[in-house]
Order: sequence, then structure tokens, then C-alpha cells
Amino acid sequence: MVFSGKRILLIISGGIAAYKSLDLIRRLRERGAAVRPVMTKGAQEFVTPLAVGALAADHVFTDLFSRQDEQDVGHIRLARDCDLVLIAPATADLLAKMAAGLADDLASTILLATDRPVLVAPAMNPHMWAHVATKRNVRTLRDDGIRFVGPMAGEMAESREAGIGRMAEPLDIVAAAEAMFDDSPKPLAGRKAIVTSGPTHEPIDPVRYIANRSSGRQGHAIAAALAKLGAEVTLVSGPVSIADPIGVRAIHVERAEEMRDAVLAALPADIAVMVAAVADWRVASASGQKIKKHPGESIPTLALTENPDILKTVGHHTMRPKVVVGFAAETQNVESNARAKLERKGADFIVANDVSPATGIMGGVRNQVKIVGRDGIEQWPDLAKDEVAHRLATLIAKQFKP
Ligand code: C5P
Repeated sequence: MVFSGKRILLIISGGIAAYKSLDLIRRLRERGAAVRPVMTKGAQEFVTPLAVGALAADHVFTDLFSRQDEQDVGHIRLARDCDLVLIAPATADLLAKMAAGLADDLASTILLATDRPVLVAPAMNPHMWAHVATKRNVRTLRDDGIRFVGPMAGEMAESREAGIGRMAEPLDIVAAAEAMFDDSPKPLAGRKAIVTSGPTHEPIDPVRYIANRSSGRQGHAIAAALAKLGAEVTLVSGPVSIADPIGVRAIHVERAEEMRDAVLAALPADIAVMVAAVADWRVASASGQKIKKHPGESIPTLALTENPDILKTVGHHTMRPKVVVGFAAETQNVESNARAKLERKGADFIVANDVSPATGIMGGVRNQVKIVGRDGIEQWPDLAKDEVAHRLATLIAKQFKP
């Protein structure tokens, strides 16, 4: 578990987003963290210490001058006996106190006394976030080494106002906390990667489309694996039912032409991994209205036209990334087809897999692949798609070694 043995001091300050902190506690604990909660006076107006304590399975600390708490633990120990101090939500007021070094309640005193890493998830009205005073405080805190996750754009919980100010979602906060504990090597730091994933949907009319069985699992896993090695990843995904991987910029498209445009807009890049199962053909002229069935009339025929080949376009582009990887989903002659594809598409590697229905690969969670490169071919064992992704990201990272 990612947070096994980790102790997180969670400071909840007074904002409506405090309701999300309850879920955050669960997400942290189910990943192995011990969560010790501290609530400001304001926080207790939004959620109760009873709920927070029950979810954290710990005492909730609220008072700087509690004789009992000071005897048992003490605010200095609270500030030091943890691996991370996480503030979620962090109000504009608490940020201002931190930036100024004030210590007039338990939360601010802990923040002044701690020598542990601090991660802040701000939540406030967009005007408060945009205010020069808040901007100045955030700048100061960043310079002090405090890390931030969010706030995000969107509608506010309490009003119809929209803008930047929503607290990051619990899973994004979890990912940011995980990244702070992650001291694994980042061989792809400073490199840009583009990954395509999922199927494309090619419209026949407003309600019907041509699609395929791609789930996006392999492509999404590769995007996540490249990000884990430090790359800045743009994921261009067709319609899928799985979540965006954390830590990548995800662009959602439907058609192959949209996918091509999004990929080209993301150039220049150092790495391109084209995993999407792009439809080879689209309907030449999709109908603007639903095609109706009329008794006695002839059955319509669909005239198809070729879609752009995104991999080939990228592989022969003037801004061709240094490492270009394609996939070859074949049901027969897997190896020879992959070799031909390597040349034709201008790729450095083709990841070839046999997607005959019997293999269960398409839409499944495992994959068995051959890596066809310019210097030879490697057969990998049957692996989880996440593991294939990790190995492929490592292979890509090797290409950048001097
Ligand atoms: O030619 P084929 O579809 O077998 O090639 C598969 C590889 O090419 C995959 O990497 C896929 O993402 C890419 N591709 C593409 N654009 C297309 C067709 C395939 O990028 N129109």
C-alpha cells in the first residue's frame, strides 16, 4: 500500500469543502496511512469532530489550550510526529497566517512548529483566490517550500459562482501526497510525451457510430507509467469508461480527425506512444439527422473513407519525437506484420499483440506482447497491463541515455 507506515497530520480548516475531507480521510486510510486530524474552530462549523474522529479512528485535536491534549501529546509533538502535514481544505485566512508566521490557534501553531513537509489543498471563493493578498501569500509559501494541490476551476458548492477556488478532489490530493513520498528516480524529468488511448467513435448519424472494443486500459496505464518516471504527459483519449490517470493532462476526443488534431497540437514532444485503436475508416458523409427506417425502402449502405493515420503522421513529421512507439493489434502473422509496420509508420518500436478473441486481451487487464525494435525482437511474458506499461516506460527512458 502506498502509504504503509506513513503518518499524516490532516489539518481541516473552515470551508464548505471540509465535507470532502471526510472522504479524503477514507482514501488515505485505505492506502495504509494513519491519519491524525486537527480541526480549526471554523472547520467544526462545517463538519463535526465526531464524524472526523470516527473516520480517522483517532482523537481529533481542536484546542491549543486543552490541558488533557497538551499532557498526552502536546502541539509540538503533533507538529513533529508525522511524515506529512496536509491541510485540506486550506482557507485564505489560514494561508495568510502561515505566510505571516502567526500562531494563534492549534493549527497555525503546529504549522509554525513543524519541520515536516507540508501539502496544502486550498479552497475558497474565486475572488479570494484571485486577490493580490492571497497571491502574495501563495508566492511566499511556495518560496518557503510549501507544496500545493489545486485549487481547481469549477462551480462553487455554496453559490452559483464559477472560477478557480474549488478544492482538489480527494483522489488528486492523495496523488499529490503520494508524489511527495515518491523518491524513485525520474529519468524522464523534463521530457514531454504524447500518448493516444482508447477507441475512436466515427459517427454514422447523430445517434449511431462505428467503434471497437478498446477499453483504453493499456494506453492509460502507459500514460501513468511515463508520468511516474517524470515525463510531462499529454494523454489524448477516445471515449472510454475508465478514469483519467492522475498526474497527466488528459484531452478527450471522439473521432480520429479530432485525435490527430489534438496530437499535432501537443507537438513538439520527446516521446509519442500511439496506443489508440483508431478506426481505419469513417463514414464518408455522416448524416446530420437520424437515418430513419421506412418500410419497403431499400437498406442504406455506408460509404467509407480513410481516416488519417496518426502514428504515421507523427512518425514522419518534421517535429518527429525522438522516440515513437506504435502498437500492432493483430489476429495473425503478428511478428511479420509488426516489422512491416515499423518501417511504414516510421516508428522506433512496435508493441505487437495477438488480439484474437481467445486471448481476451482486448478489453481485458492482462497483455502478452512482443517488442519489435530496429535491433531485434523481445518477447515479454503474460503481464498485467500496468506492468507492460511500466516496462515500456523504462525501455523508452533508456533511449535517452547518452
Ligand atoms: O495500421 P494499424 O491500425 O494496425 O496500426 C496500429 C498502430 O497505428 C497503433 O499504434 C495505432 O495507434 C496507430 N494508428 C494511428 N492512426 C490510425 C491507425 C492506427 O495512429 N488511423
